[in-house]
Amino acid sequence: MNKDVVNRTTNEIFREGTTCHYEPSRRQNVKNYEIDVLTPDYFGISGAGIIWVERAIALVIRCLSLVCCIFPAPKDRHVKSTLARTPSESISPALSALSQHATEARSWILGDLFRQDTQRARAFSIEAAGLLLDFSKNHLSQDTLQLLTDFARERGVETLRDAMLAGERINTTEHRAALHTCLRQPPGTSFIFEGHDISADIQTVLSRMSAFAEKIRDGSWKGFNGQRITDIVNIGIGGSDLGPAMTCAALRTYAHPDLRLHFLSNVDGHATDALLSALNPQTTLFIVASKTFTTMETMRNAEAARTWLLQHAQAADLPKHFVAVSTNTDAVREFGIDPVNMFPFWDWVGGRYSIWSAIGLPLLIAIGIEAFRAFLAGAHRMDEHFRTAPLGSNMPVVLALTGFWYRQFFGTTSQLIAPYHQDLHLFPAYLQQLEMESNGKQVTHDGKPVSMPTAPVTWGSVGTNGQHAYFQLLHQGTDLIPVDFIIALKPEHPYQDQHKALLANALAQAEALMSGNASDSALPPHRVFTGNRPSNMLVLPALDPASLGALIALYEHKTFVQGVLWNINSFDQWGVELGKTLAQRILDELTDAAPVTAHDSSTANLITRIQNALKP
Ligand code: F6P
Repeated sequence: MNKDVVNRTTNEIFREGTTCHYEPSRRQNVKNYEIDVLTPDYFGISGAGIIWVERAIALVIRCLSLVCCIFPAPKDRHVKSTLARTPSESISPALSALSQHATEARSWILGDLFRQDTQRARAFSIEAAGLLLDFSKNHLSQDTLQLLTDFARERGVETLRDAMLAGERINTTEHRAALHTCLRQPPGTSFIFEGHDISADIQTVLSRMSAFAEKIRDGSWKGFNGQRITDIVNIGIGGSDLGPAMTCAALRTYAHPDLRLHFLSNVDGHATDALLSALNPQTTLFIVASKTFTTMETMRNAEAARTWLLQHAQAADLPKHFVAVSTNTDAVREFGIDPVNMFPFWDWVGGRYSIWSAIGLPLLIAIGIEAFRAFLAGAHRMDEHFRTAPLGSNMPVVLALTGFWYRQFFGTTSQLIAPYHQDLHLFPAYLQQLEMESNGKQVTHDGKPVSMPTAPVTWGSVGTNGQHAYFQLLHQGTDLIPVDFIIALKPEHPYQDQHKALLANALAQAEALMSGNASDSALPPHRVFTGNRPSNMLVLPALDPASLGALIALYEHKTFVQGVLWNINSFDQWGVELGKTLAQRILDELTDAAPVTAHDSSTANLITRIQNALKP
C-alpha cells in the first residue's frame, strides 16, 4: 500500500470535521502529520473586536460575580466556591501537559500499540456493575490516562461529583440540585435534602406506582364499561418520552404479555391520528407525563386524547382512563385529572434523568415491580462505582475522558453509538437528548464563552443495519468518528446462530476500523482501509433490567463528567426556549389568520402561504 495514501488520509481525518478555526501561527508539524492547535472563533467575531467584546463582557461579569460573591444564595454557596476553585483552561497546567502529549499521541498507530503490549486489552478494560468497558482500541497510553485524570482532578470532577451526590444545587442557572441518583437508592436508605428526608417521599411514590401498576397488570383496573386495560399510551416528549419509550423497547422480553405500550410525543396530528384510530377507548389508559405540565406538544396530544375518549364515554369516566405524572399539581388538576391519580416527582429530577422517577411508570407497568427494582439496583451499582472508584479505573470517568480526548485534541465533531441489539434501537436517540441537551452549551458556569469545543453530535442506530448504510463513511470517509459498540453476551431469544453472527459483526467492525488493511501495498486506493480509527466496546452480560439500569447510569455520569471538564452546566436547557416562544407566536398568527408583519420576509411569506392553504 502506498504510504503517502495512509499519511494523507490519516492526516485529513485528524484535520477535517472541526468547526473551530485554525490559527496558522500555532501550527505544529508532527512527523508526517500537520496538526493544528484548535482555537475557537466565537459567534463569528474575530481579531481585535473579540478582545474588546471579551473585555466588556468580562467587566460586566466581574461586577455581577462580585455582587453574587458578596450575597450568594445560601444553598449555592458551597457549589459556587467549588466552581471558583476550578482553574480556567487558559491557565490549566494539566491541559497544557495534555496538549503537548497529544501532539505525539496523534501519530500513534493503534495496531502498533497492541503489538507493543500484548496485555493491552486487559490494561485498558474496566468492569463495573456487571458491565465491561474495553477501551483499548483508543489512542491512549498509561501516560495519556494519567494526564487525562490529572486534568479531571484539576477541574474538580471528584469534588463536583460529591457535591452532586450530596444534593448541592449544582444546576446553578435554575438553582436546583440534580438528585436522580437518590431515586435508585435501595429502600431503607435515608437521604436528607436540605432538612427533609426525600427517600421517604421517593418510596411512598414508588409504592403508589407499584400498586397502580399491579392493578393494570392483574386486570383489576377497569375501563368505563368494565373491561380490563389492554393498551397504555404515554403522552409526553423529551425526557418524559424517551426514557420510558427506550426502556420499554429494551426490556420488551420482560414485559407483561397482554399489555401493549404506546408512546405519543410529536405534536404532529398524523401521529395522534395513526395511534388513536387503532385503539379501543374502552380498554385504553393514558398517562400524561410532563414535568411542567405546560409543554405544548404534550398538552395538545392530551387534549386530543381526552376529546377522543369523550366521544365514547362520559366526563365521569375520565379518571378510569387518565392519570398524570408531573411536578405541577395545579396544572394537572386544571386539566381535569384528580391529583389522586397523579404520580409526583420533584424539581431536583431533570427531565432527561427522570426515568427512575414516576416518569418510569410505563416501564413499571410493563415489567412489574420486581424487575423495576432490579433496574434501579443496576443503576445504583453504577452510582456506587462512580462514587468510589479511582478516576483512572472509574468507568464513567474513563468513558468521558476518551470522548473529551478526541473532541479536544483530534477535532472530532461526532460520536457514533452502535448497539448491536435490536431492542436498544432507541438508545442512540435517548443518548442524543442526554448528551446533547446536557452538554450542548456555549458558556461556562460563570457565563463566559467556553474556550473548548463542547458536546459532539451523538448519533447512531443498531448494528448490523448501520453497516449496510453509513459504515462506509466510518471506514473510508474523511472524518474521524469514535464509536461506542454495545453488545450483550446472552440473547433473549432462541436463535443462537443469529446471535453469534450479530456479535461477530460487532467485533469485526471494531477490528476493521482499527486495523484497516494498510499493510497490503498491492491494493488500489479505493480498496484501502487506513484503519487507526478508535472505538469502545461495552459488554453487557445480557440486556436485562439490572444491566440496562447500569448502562443508562454509566452514560448519565459520563455526561456529567464531561460537563465538569468543560466547566458548563449540564443540567439546564435554555437553548430550547427561544424556539418554543417563537412557535407560540406563529401559532397565534396562524390561528388568528391576522396579517403578518413582525417577521423577516421569508418567515412572513411562509406564514401567509400556510394561512391561505388552511383557509376553510
Ligand atoms: O424542551 C426541552 C424539555 O424541557 C426537556 O428538557 C424535557 O425533557 C422536555 O422538554 C419535556 O418537558 P416536560 O416534561 O416538562 O413536558
